[in-house]
Amino acid sequence: MKTFNPIFISFFYLFVSIVRSQTPVPASVLIDISNLGAKPDGDATQAMMAAWKEACAAIAPAKIIIPVGTYTLTALKLLGPCKAPITIEIAGNFKAPPEVAVFKGEDSWVKFEHVEGLTVTTLPGGGTFDGQGQVAWKQNNCAATGTCDNLPYNFRFNFLTNTKIDGISSLNSKLYHMAVLECKNLTLSGIKIDAPADSLNTDGIHIGRSEGITVSNAKIGTGDDCISMGDGAVNVNLEGIVCGPGHGISIGSLGRYANEAPVTGVHVKNCTISNTDNGIRIKSWLNSFETSASDLHFEDITVDNVLTPVLIDQEYCPYNHCKEKTPSKVKLSNISFKNIKGTAGAKEAVKLLCSSGVPCDKVELADIDLTFAGGAVSMCKNVKPITTGTQNPIACGAPAPASL
Ligand SMILES: *[C@@H]1O[C@H](CO)[C@@H](O)[C@H](O)[C@H]1NC(C)=O
Ligand SMILES: *[C@@H]1O[C@H](CO)[C@@H](O)[C@H](O)[C@H]1NC(C)=O
Ligand SMILES: *[C@@H]1O[C@H](CO)[C@@H](O)[C@H](O)[C@H]1NC(C)=O
Repeated sequence: MKTFNPIFISFFYLFVSIVRSQTPVPASVLIDISNLGAKPDGDATQAMMAAWKEACAAIAPAKIIIPVGTYTLTALKLLGPCKAPITIEIAGNFKAPPEVAVFKGEDSWVKFEHVEGLTVTTLPGGGTFDGQGQVAWKQNNCAATGTCDNLPYNFRFNFLTNTKIDGISSLNSKLYHMAVLECKNLTLSGIKIDAPADSLNTDGIHIGRSEGITVSNAKIGTGDDCISMGDGAVNVNLEGIVCGPGHGISIGSLGRYANEAPVTGVHVKNCTISNTDNGIRIKSWLNSFETSASDLHFEDITVDNVLTPVLIDQEYCPYNHCKEKTPSKVKLSNISFKNIKGTAGAKEAVKLLCSSGVPCDKVELADIDLTFAGGAVSMCKNVKPITTGTQNPIACGAPAPASL
């Protein structure tokens, strides 16, 4: 009987492992949607789904190419998990059907879910996604009811890891433009978002239950918050955001639901906010559940004609949703506003209205220079801010309104 000598066996395994480690990563798989039936000026939904299916099954990194053209696209779900990273390179532009019924109750126009290593890039002149929301806005009565469901968002990014999205323009979404939920390490750069000031609930980007999210160099004009962060937003960096019209950059509303995860580590830097209701805002509900938001830092913010440039509002309760008026149980701490300057659109330029139940801790105001023609004021409640540098208006110089 033939036996193998152990030295031979170890050489054999050494050889196998060297061959393995030197096997080159297979060449990228290129998938052009024009080879899958998409025609410029035609509907690209089927071709996009076919391209995604092929890309997602590929064991090598795949690239989906969208050539120049203006494609119509109905609800598109690009779901993982996939076998290897996927890049989508977009030279074309997309339009959504205006009629809501076509979406058959889908919560989004373009949804990415459970993907690891997604990169979306755009070529000059491409990458516009026009949600054509004008018809939907007319049918939408959320102003009266305070809720506004059953309309698709332009984009949803759910459960994504290591994602890079660059250069997308999102126009006239029927509801929110983009939502980032349950993602880890996602960067949105060079994003443009545009909807009219009077379009309801067309928030720019909402980030919730996600960690390591960066938004840089975005230009956002819309009918609601430019960027909002909800519960569980952790380590979020917003930089170089130009916002307006809209409702500013906001954290919250927090505390409406039980078991909300804390918000922590938000850095907002080098932003310009114009013609909005609020500049930077942190809000929590009255009569809330218990949660917290901490390590929230706002720096180098220029405002132009913003009604309330700096706002902490722990008495949020629109549409008479809270029957009892018990103080908010959302603890706010370690918050700084540094180098905030420009013009307010109303007298009350700085309002720090913290909860009487859980007063704010360690709030810093440094180099605040906000002007209003009739004289700006700053008011504080249940907070003693640490002040350094310029304080215009004088920090907490005006009496705060009585509690609701
Ligand atoms: C984050 O994602 C990018 C790809 O978008 C990747 O290059 C980078 O290594 C990731 N960072 C971490 C810490 O995983
Ligand atoms: C600040 O943001 C603007 C607008 O996005 C950008 O053009 C500029 O380069 C940024 N400045 C710095 C110092 O990052
Ligand atoms: C306040 O926030 C900063 C920045 O996130 C962090 O480095 C620091 O440790 C925090 N301080 C406290 C007292 O939590």
